[in-house]
Amino acid sequence: MSKLTFAAADGTSRPLYLVTKEGLAVFLSVLEPAARAWVEAAGFAAKAGETVLIPGADGAIMAAAGGLGDARDWERKRFAVALLRGKLPGGLWRLETELADTRLAEAALGWLLAGYRFDRYASAPGPKADLVAPAGVDAGRLETIAAGEALARDLINTPASDMGPDELEAAARDLAGRFGAAVTVTEGEALLEANLPMIHAVGRASPRAPRLIDMSWGKSGPAVTLVGKGVCFDTGGLNLKPGASMGLMKKDMGGAANVLGLAQMLMASGAAMRLRVLIPAVENSVSGASFRPGDILTSRKGLTVEINNTDAEGRLVLADALALADEGSPELIVSMATLTGAARVAVGPDLAPFYATADMDAAALEAAAADVRDPVWRMPFWEPYETMIEPGIADLDNAPSGGFAGSITAALFLRRFVTNCPRYMHFDIYGWTPKSEPGRPKGGAAQGIRALFEALPGMVGR
Ligand code: BES
Ligand code: MN
Ligand code: ZN
Repeated sequence: MSKLTFAAADGTSRPLYLVTKEGLAVFLSVLEPAARAWVEAAGFAAKAGETVLIPGADGAIMAAAGGLGDARDWERKRFAVALLRGKLPGGLWRLETELADTRLAEAALGWLLAGYRFDRYASAPGPKADLVAPAGVDAGRLETIAAGEALARDLINTPASDMGPDELEAAARDLAGRFGAAVTVTEGEALLEANLPMIHAVGRASPRAPRLIDMSWGKSGPAVTLVGKGVCFDTGGLNLKPGASMGLMKKDMGGAANVLGLAQMLMASGAAMRLRVLIPAVENSVSGASFRPGDILTSRKGLTVEINNTDAEGRLVLADALALADEGSPELIVSMATLTGAARVAVGPDLAPFYATADMDAAALEAAAADVRDPVWRMPFWEPYETMIEPGIADLDNAPSGGFAGSITAALFLRRFVTNCPRYMHFDIYGWTPKSEPGRPKGGAAQGIRALFEALPGMVGR
């Protein structure tokens, strides 16, 4: 079971000394002689993730030292403290450290994130060690962040057999219910009546009906609309993906999972904004009802789209949701999507590539991302490539040939549907941790939402 909260401060706790390589000599010099001899004899070198348990005179463990490595380790690895948690025996611990401010918050968050487990299908006991929230961090806020991250991970990790459009809707309704948000859902043929034709076209081949989930929360403050790609499974449609590429496609609702995780953080923290979350939830399936290569779809906005590859489905469902978002004239629209393989090729699984129409927003996000160690990388809405998404006999091409700048052309495609709201940000995320890292087990990943949570309140309403 996941353990994503701090322990109550009552009861006795044992100190966990956080030690950097640079601070090792000083640490040893202030230890009592017996403890110092023990730590030295154990060969403790403060390597990142290294621990040594320190006994008292009666032989019981009275303290522990945990290594954070050197400055380069800090640059290269996030959340070294997450490594320590799993190595400590059960009971209550407290941090003894010189770390302060953002670094102390990172340490405390790393501890919490190390408590995540995905145990829906097999038991996965959480770590035994608990931590008293260190003085100087906003413990409630860190718990809110960890819970939002965990929600995103859980939704992504759940296989498509148990996370279709229906279950994704249920997850949104559950979230809304916990915070008094309103949800409306437009499903199946009703998508056509509501003029959301591309969401219908992409999802209509599946027996699991496509839908648009529309959640809103908050009575006052600036309006912010989050849009998340909710492709519960992406076979590629008739332009079928090869098996190796299809294997991970339960994660193709990673954008939806991330905006729900972010929405949970914002609502739990009582953010002063009017929040709207739009999720086109579909399964990109193969059947006689599939949309086809060569089809021309008319979007909600009226722009026509020539389908050159049914595997470029994310931008289609997002386009209708973005057009709807844009009609509401919010101050800011943010979309998140596992949109292109090209984004993964460009920046790998760690960095969240993002696009922003406003430099101020990009700068605010980048600053927040560094503070909360949620790395992002700005990509350009490169105007000259607009011609790449313009075919001959429709307004737009969903899958430009040539193989150039796949993430950029997808972003440009989406931007065509946001013409009213001047501030638009788009994240082309991977949504998956391919190999376990401290605090980030292999599997579904939140990306960019801690940075957004940090930056958003300051970005809007100024
Ligand atoms: N969901 C995929 C993108 C994807 C693939 C994200 C692998 C992360 C990992 C998306 O629907 C897709 O298939 N995109 C195509 C677009 C192409 C056909 C223009 C792609 O990127 O190959
Ligand atoms: Mn696809
Ligand atoms: Zn997809």
